[in-house]
Amino acid sequence: MAYLHIISMILPLFLHILAASSTTTDTISAGQTLSISDKLVSKNGRYALGFFEVGNNSSQNTSNWYLGIWFNSVPKLTQAWVANRDDPFKSPPSSLELKISHDGNLVVLNQPTNSVIWSTQVKMTRNSTIAMLLDSGNFILRNVSNSSHTLWQSFDHPTDTFLPGMKLGWDNITGLNRRIFSRKNSISPATGVYCEELDPSGIDQIVLVKWNSNAQYWSTRVWDGHHFASLPDEARNGGNESLVTNAHEKYYTYTILEETATVYYNLDVSGQVKIFVWPEGSQDWIPAYSQPRAQCDVYAVCGPFAICNDDALPSCTCTKGFSVRSPDDWELDDRTGGCIRNTPLDCITKGSSTRSTDKFLPLPCVSLAQSVRRIEDAQSIGVCAQVCLDNCSCAAYSLSNGTCSIWHGELLNIRQIQCSSAANSNGETLYLRLAAKDIQGLEKNKRVFIIAVATSTSVAALGLFAFAMLIMICRNKRKNSGHIANTAQDCNGIIAFPYDALEHGTKNFSEKLGEGGFGSVFKGFLNNSTAIAVKKLDHHAHHGEKQFRAEVSSIGIIQHINLVKLIGFCCEGARRLLVYEYMPNGSLATHLFQSHATVLTWSTRYQIALGVARGLAYLHEKCLECIIHCDIKPENILLSDSYVPKIADFGMAKFLGRDFSRVITTMRGTIGYLAPEWISGVAITPKVDVYAYGMVLLEIVSGKRNSCVSCSCSSKHDVYYPVHVAREIIGGDVRSLLDNRLCGEVNLKEAEIACKVACWCIQDDEFDRPTMGEVVQILEGLLEVNIPPMPRLLQTIAGSSNYSTCC
Ligand SMILES: *[C@@H]1O[C@H](CO)[C@@H](O)[C@H](O)[C@H]1NC(C)=O
Ligand SMILES: *[C@@H]1O[C@H](CO)[C@@H](O)[C@H](O)[C@H]1NC(C)=O
Ligand SMILES: *[C@@H]1O[C@H](CO)[C@@H](O)[C@H](O)[C@H]1NC(C)=O
Ligand SMILES: *[C@@H]1O[C@H](CO)[C@@H](O)[C@H](O)[C@H]1NC(C)=O
Ligand SMILES: *[C@@H]1O[C@H](CO)[C@@H](O)[C@H](O)[C@H]1NC(C)=O
Ligand SMILES: *[C@@H]1O[C@H](CO)[C@@H](O)[C@H](O)[C@H]1NC(C)=O
Ligand SMILES: *[C@@H]1O[C@H](CO)[C@@H](O)[C@H](O)[C@H]1NC(C)=O
Ligand SMILES: *[C@@H]1O[C@H](CO)[C@@H](O)[C@H](O)[C@H]1NC(C)=O
Ligand SMILES: *[C@@H]1O[C@H](CO)[C@@H](O)[C@H](O)[C@H]1NC(C)=O
Ligand SMILES: *[C@@H]1O[C@H](CO)[C@@H](O)[C@H](O)[C@H]1NC(C)=O
Repeated sequence: MAYLHIISMILPLFLHILAASSTTTDTISAGQTLSISDKLVSKNGRYALGFFEVGNNSSQNTSNWYLGIWFNSVPKLTQAWVANRDDPFKSPPSSLELKISHDGNLVVLNQPTNSVIWSTQVKMTRNSTIAMLLDSGNFILRNVSNSSHTLWQSFDHPTDTFLPGMKLGWDNITGLNRRIFSRKNSISPATGVYCEELDPSGIDQIVLVKWNSNAQYWSTRVWDGHHFASLPDEARNGGNESLVTNAHEKYYTYTILEETATVYYNLDVSGQVKIFVWPEGSQDWIPAYSQPRAQCDVYAVCGPFAICNDDALPSCTCTKGFSVRSPDDWELDDRTGGCIRNTPLDCITKGSSTRSTDKFLPLPCVSLAQSVRRIEDAQSIGVCAQVCLDNCSCAAYSLSNGTCSIWHGELLNIRQIQCSSAANSNGETLYLRLAAKDIQGLEKNKRVFIIAVATSTSVAALGLFAFAMLIMICRNKRKNSGHIANTAQDCNGIIAFPYDALEHGTKNFSEKLGEGGFGSVFKGFLNNSTAIAVKKLDHHAHHGEKQFRAEVSSIGIIQHINLVKLIGFCCEGARRLLVYEYMPNGSLATHLFQSHATVLTWSTRYQIALGVARGLAYLHEKCLECIIHCDIKPENILLSDSYVPKIADFGMAKFLGRDFSRVITTMRGTIGYLAPEWISGVAITPKVDVYAYGMVLLEIVSGKRNSCVSCSCSSKHDVYYPVHVAREIIGGDVRSLLDNRLCGEVNLKEAEIACKVACWCIQDDEFDRPTMGEVVQILEGLLEVNIPPMPRLLQTIAGSSNYSTCC
């Protein structure tokens, strides 16, 4: 069925061949002319030659005229040869004439000027010639008095059709190399990009190549003396093929024994060789053979930045962030022009440093077997992505099987494969570089996906996350092999505790305070009865000593009233523990979400919001090295005895060099607080913390989880809360947004500011979000804040998910 579809595509819709006239001869002799309304018909009636028109319909003047041969016995008009495929006749149709000129050549004249617009261009000393359309479909010019003396023949100038009896190959005396070229598109017979030829390297095989790229994408495999190894037996039935090699010639040819069948062997626009048969009395071409079998095996058939999918029709689609370069060609089945970026990349190289705001779009389950990749020495996805970002010509990367691959320039041959079957393991995830703006346009769908995952399989997601952490830690282990340190040390004012002391101080780790991404936290006391929180890191066996100490000392020098203070650590053998000041009031999550907890007053909430903002602003802007926390959520905000908020858990922070504004990390954080760029790209800025902060701020205002992920909401939200907030703010009323446990005791001006800030913080585009420094100034009343726009992504989620079902 698919073949039949293809045939209908091959045949130009508007191909117009003039109706048969009274002329039914097969020859043109000297003095005779073939006008536009005439045709030659071979003696067997199978082929006809004449002028035909291609393009718009005849009432318009834009059409092109060609001299050519078509299958006369087939009602469906199918071209077999075109004399002037790349030089269509534009002249008014009535003036075209085919005749034998004074010099013996066959010419097309443009009347009335009598100018030659096409010629067989044979050098002859005598002009006694005759032209004839043979039964084979070969149009020849020969000596009148010697029928075996052929001066010119159409078989020496094949177009896209390989007729029986034609030769594919070269003649070293005449210098001819006969090749088949596909047509430009489903209407124009002009020379296309795919070529079938005898292997120029001398191997006895026929190859298919993309012209100008020398990319050979299929071969018949070597001739075994009788056949080509790859051809199926069915293709040989009723035929006779031969590969002839002699002193001056090497060619392949085939004949058809079944005289009644008409064969159409064509190199399609799509780059595939297709053989069709029209048995007598048939209604249509019957497909007999097609190679390469899979459309996507054809080199660059979809052009740059398009995905080829063998299971789809049409097979080619532009990747996200791209549009069809030439819609007209695309429409006519010529997709080799591919796709162009909707937005140019933002990348500038100055000297040895490169700056880029580009992001990456993951394309899962693709194969890139035919494209040229460069292998880079990068072990992690973050480093691999950075290698790509550091070169403005890099278009994509992938980290597959532990190997980082980079693609430069235009990306060809992206092929969609089925990932579901484990057997097909050659698929990988390609990270396609896009302008940040284009990535944002795509976030909607991604976000919906994440939420869907979060609501249905949050447990699985968490498991995956833990696994990612494990890998990260394992990697660290490999780089570090330390010796055991068991003596108390003091570095940067941080105390190194012996394990025994901590074991004793926590009563053998009996009072568990909570569990974080990196391990469990236990309550304990120092000798002077100072309360401490001891964090026992999971997978401690893999945490190298040297790196651990480096991290501890860098955390140790960070001191701020709104950051939990690190008192000390323990690094003994495989044990890794961190000792923090104890926060008697627990986490913000407890106070906001647990029914039995004391209700925080509005002013406390506002001070907490301000404190967290100050702590983050300090991490982002004031430290020696910029630190992105990466996991801001109510669980990681602890409250002192006087409800001063303190940001905890730097285990997820990624340290940045002073000269960098960005860092690439593997995806980390907590669902519900993840900025869109976590999902789409891998280049992360402090704005991910701003996003998470915005989410936390909304929860401070409402006293409820924004999403229903792992929550036990008492009241039902029929829309996703952040979207509700955005709508109400735009509508000008924040009252309905507030935690009803506050019983209306709220400073409405502050509440409005908080809601607006939160809404700005959760904008899709990181550039729309304020910095934490600006957030502090807004909350302090030093900066005015406008009405924020609706975050589009969240709105999409709200529109597509039914939140009331999970609450
Ligand atoms: C058909 O005509 C339109 C304008 O009349 C032109 O834009 C278009 O390119 C033509 N198509 C072909 C195949 O010649
Ligand atoms: C050809 O074009 C003319 C004018 O655009 C239109 O009226 C006519 O129907 C067309 N004919 C065909 C066969 O498409
Ligand atoms: C075609 O050309 C003729 C003469 O050149 C002109 O009169 C006519 O308007 C043209 N038709 C179209 C559709 O352009
Ligand atoms: C062949 O060439 C001769 C001399 O050049 C010329 O007189 C004659 O008309 C030509 N014959 C034809 C059929 O063109
Ligand atoms: C045709 O053949 C004759 C006899 O073989 C020869 O004299 C003549 O030159 C040939 N004509 C051409 C055009 O080659
Ligand atoms: C006819 O042409 C063929 C091929 O060019 C040549 O071998 C043969 O000698 C010619 N015959 C005559 C009678 O000239
Ligand atoms: C004939 O020409 C081809 C290239 O067209 C070349 O590869 C081959 O070696 C030549 N053969 C001989 C015998 O010269
Ligand atoms: C097939 O082709 C070979 C070589 O051209 C020839 O020797 C043989 O007779 C042909 N067989 C048939 C059945 O035509
Ligand atoms: C980027 O990669 C290209 C291709 O490998 C290379 O020629 C070029 O020097 C690289 N540019 C930089 C700035 O590294
Ligand atoms: C992964 O790499 C190993 C060795 O580097 C190789 O043996 C294996 O075939 C690769 N697997 C895939 C799916 O490429």
